[in-house]
Amino acid sequence: MNLKDKYIEFFVSKGHKQIPSAPVVPENDPSVLFNTAGMQPLIPYLMGEPHPYGNRLVDYQKCIRTNDLDEVGDKTHHTFFEMLGNWSLGDYFKNESINYSFEFLTKVLNIPVSRLAVTVYSGDDKVPFDQEAYDLWLSLGISKGHIASTKEDNFWAAGETGPCGTDTEIFYFRSEEEVPEVFDTEDDRWVEIWNNVFMQFNRKQDGTIEYLPKKNVDTGMGYERVLAVLEGKNDNYESSLWTDVIELIEKISSKPYKGNEKSIRIIADHIRTAVFIASDDAGIKPSNKDQGYILRRLIRRAIRHAKKLGIDINSSWERDIALLIIEKYKKYYEELDRNKDVVLEVLKSEKEKFNKTLEKGLREFEKKSDKDIDADTAFHLYDTFGFPIELTLELANEKGLNVDIEGFNKKFKEHQELSRTASVGKFKGGLAGNSEIETKYHTATHLLNAALKITVNKDIHQMGSNITDERMRFDFNCDHKLTPDEIKATEDLVNKWISEGLSVHKEEMKKEDALKIGAECRFIEKYPDIVTVYFIGDVSKELCGGPHVSNTSEIGHFKIKKEEASSQGVRRIKAIIE
Ligand code: SER
Repeated sequence: MNLKDKYIEFFVSKGHKQIPSAPVVPENDPSVLFNTAGMQPLIPYLMGEPHPYGNRLVDYQKCIRTNDLDEVGDKTHHTFFEMLGNWSLGDYFKNESINYSFEFLTKVLNIPVSRLAVTVYSGDDKVPFDQEAYDLWLSLGISKGHIASTKEDNFWAAGETGPCGTDTEIFYFRSEEEVPEVFDTEDDRWVEIWNNVFMQFNRKQDGTIEYLPKKNVDTGMGYERVLAVLEGKNDNYESSLWTDVIELIEKISSKPYKGNEKSIRIIADHIRTAVFIASDDAGIKPSNKDQGYILRRLIRRAIRHAKKLGIDINSSWERDIALLIIEKYKKYYEELDRNKDVVLEVLKSEKEKFNKTLEKGLREFEKKSDKDIDADTAFHLYDTFGFPIELTLELANEKGLNVDIEGFNKKFKEHQELSRTASVGKFKGGLAGNSEIETKYHTATHLLNAALKITVNKDIHQMGSNITDERMRFDFNCDHKLTPDEIKATEDLVNKWISEGLSVHKEEMKKEDALKIGAECRFIEKYPDIVTVYFIGDVSKELCGGPHVSNTSEIGHFKIKKEEASSQGVRRIKAIIE
């Protein structure tokens, strides 16, 4: 059994419910482009909202971090990773959390206690030294020398505001050498493998900290890293997780991994992440904005490295790699198989687009590379030849040249008029803002979903949704472009319901009862026995975590701004409330 399955099985045996991985593109959270940690989709529940699956949860979550995109190529960086996590929402706290982790590591994974070390919170004037965690580790047999304490590294927060707390981190000694008696956090033979956060605080906007309604536990274990560590590999890409992908790239390029590590790792990592982004039900396509731009950069950088390895770009190399990745992961993420054709098409068409300008762009770069690359040249390479900045940077690095990145960024911003939500902060992660306006959009989304079933087709369902405080986006299955009459009828119906001042309330009920009353829901099979259903008058009932307005009259006037294709058989509506 593999590590992922062992992890889930262990925590299920300890009374945890397995929850499905959330999409990589967060639904209704405009503050981040991608889920960057396992706990991110759980923020409302860590803040106190009851979770429909209960208060002991376990999962593996697809995560994407692209803030260090240019570092991918070394032994340890990935843009996509899976995070294994278990949570207590106001149920157990430090004692069980530490005991479970210890039992899993030493009894299930059979790691000798002597190879483990931990850190605990050292304390400051507000939050004291974590004596309880210290004593628990000691009682389990971790020697005093293997327990260190720090302040900065033992306090975890997802962002500037929101749930946070002290943590205890678990390290594994990855080396053939003798295990030192004293654990030194600076000694990189010790690798962090697991983080248990005791999430009992909420950091407010003004920086002050208050207690959350309940004491939670949030743990996270990076799957790829732990796998490599346990297999004794220093290079994550040499772990068993990657063997088949690396071998395939070796075969396609007729180049061995040794000596070509950087390009092979970049192709492996970037194609995998592109597959996960493109397969997400959010329907992301390569573009020059937000998630679409990340997708574009990943594919283009992979193409450039494929070219560097001498791969014939016009062959089906990207398809073959993508198919292998889909095959490997589809057992865990069914959307990969379901959206396989979309993924392959996204990769192929982006490849064809970039391939047209890549050669010319490279020649242009050669011409200009007798000196450092100024902002105009970098921007010209981007604008005319579609070179993402990290590609220019990489080419420059290879020649020992500098690039005026600041100048480029300025030009890029001017040119793009990047929307507020695509600002740098968004790439770093942060917390969901459930502002008043977003809450209104949330309820309007349910109304739109209900209206389309009446005005267009009763079999319409939501395929994706995204809300910012400026607009809502709603994807739904539909085989035709909506006619102007259908659009008008839909808009009118939503506005009629708004003007009727329908009340909104939620009820918790058994899944089978929700099904019986015909509550709207996607993937009902993934839900637990008890679910939350939001009712809007008698026009809508839908499974949802909220939040919603309490009366539709609070929403304002609803207007459809755009109706367009999203992907095969999926249409997209962009709408605002005024
Ligand atoms: N949230 C913590 C982390 O990401 C533990 O899951 O490390």
